[in-house]
Amino acid sequence: MRMYDLIKKKRLGEELTTEEIKFIIEGYTADTIPDYQVSAWLMAVFFQGLTPRETADLTMAMAQSGEVLDLSEIPGPKVDKHSTGGVGDKTTLVLAPLVAAAGVPVAKMSGRGLGHTGGTIDKLESIRGFNVAIDRKSFIEQLKTTKVAVVAQTGELAPADKKLYALRDVTATVDNIPLISSSIMSKKIAAGAQSIVLDVKVGSGAFMRSLEDAFALARTMVEIGNNVGRNTVALVTDMDQPLGFAVGNALEVAEAIDTLKGQGPTDLRTLCLELGAWMITLAGVTKSAAEGKSYLANLLDDGTALSKFKEFLAAQGGDVELVEDSELLPQAKHKLDLLAPRSGYVQAIAADEVGTVAMLLGAGRVTKEDCIDAAAGLILHKKMGDPVKIGDRLASLYTNNEDRLAQAKEILMNSFKIGEQQPPAKKLIHGLITVENI
Ligand code: URA
Repeated sequence: MRMYDLIKKKRLGEELTTEEIKFIIEGYTADTIPDYQVSAWLMAVFFQGLTPRETADLTMAMAQSGEVLDLSEIPGPKVDKHSTGGVGDKTTLVLAPLVAAAGVPVAKMSGRGLGHTGGTIDKLESIRGFNVAIDRKSFIEQLKTTKVAVVAQTGELAPADKKLYALRDVTATVDNIPLISSSIMSKKIAAGAQSIVLDVKVGSGAFMRSLEDAFALARTMVEIGNNVGRNTVALVTDMDQPLGFAVGNALEVAEAIDTLKGQGPTDLRTLCLELGAWMITLAGVTKSAAEGKSYLANLLDDGTALSKFKEFLAAQGGDVELVEDSELLPQAKHKLDLLAPRSGYVQAIAADEVGTVAMLLGAGRVTKEDCIDAAAGLILHKKMGDPVKIGDRLASLYTNNEDRLAQAKEILMNSFKIGEQQPPAKKLIHGLITVENI
């Protein structure tokens, strides 16, 4: 087989065989096919697309390019969850202990990530003592005893995707639905779960800006998952404004703890109950998502989920005391309030700009080498649709780098749109894709 012929075949819009896709991925991982040929192939894929069969083959080839986790030692059905990412998205911090409290093991491999705030791993690292680098044996042991473990994803999982994603980043081939879908699903499949619940975000703070693109991505991922024998469902959810009130690593941990105490923001609680309900329904604990929601709401309200969170922190060396005393989380030296310049209603909060503000304050990384300020970020005091009076606090900004405050405040001011009319209520859940309605 020659890579030249496979580039040409895809350029002409023909379908590649399973063996041909394996040849490309294995060759690229082993460095026997150079970047320039794979770049040309990616561009051909970008314009000609991949059939569902090719997309599933690409996913499996990337999943099998490294370690595929074997979770069979852990009793019961294992369910994973993935979010395509958004501003203030701390759902994993709530869902992992909540779903484990329902008896379903949650074996989570998470990333650090670039962008407005860190990933789940950075958020957990703002908890003093929390160890995100436990070895495989301890990971499995912890899952058997505690039913929940969250560790940093290593390069051993889907290394072909890591290499291909970096190449896509510099060849303008990231924003392509079959390539995004196979990239995400390859890592989920390598992480070993039998069932997968996807949270596909749509809006100004998300990868997908239009409902059409978000639904297309959701459908493609659900199709891949089910084609390769994983029960997969996707919810398309709103990211036109940040999720909850907190954006920033330690601030988000505090908000997740409030939610586990039954006191968190309504949108965050609602989304966690929806996603969690699908997780436990796919695991067979409940018969329907509606039943799952009330089952999980009880676990939040009676303290069971919070106890599971404490157990989880203790198992990974984290400071359990901070569950009752949030001042034990990293605290910023500088705080500044943003006040409403006029009265009216909050008509919009541009989530992407809020993300930029959080990053500027120190909550996120621009390059992989950057350090995160765990205490940095912001708390919104108003969300879309809320009435405001001139001088009301719209948000509070937190940082250890005072020099950044003025610019951050200006951007944040511009991200709020205040007008006379109350905007129509925003939908949080735009739709559900299951194998039945792809
Ligand atoms: N996230 C991924 O993991 N892969 C993509 O291609 C895009 C977003």
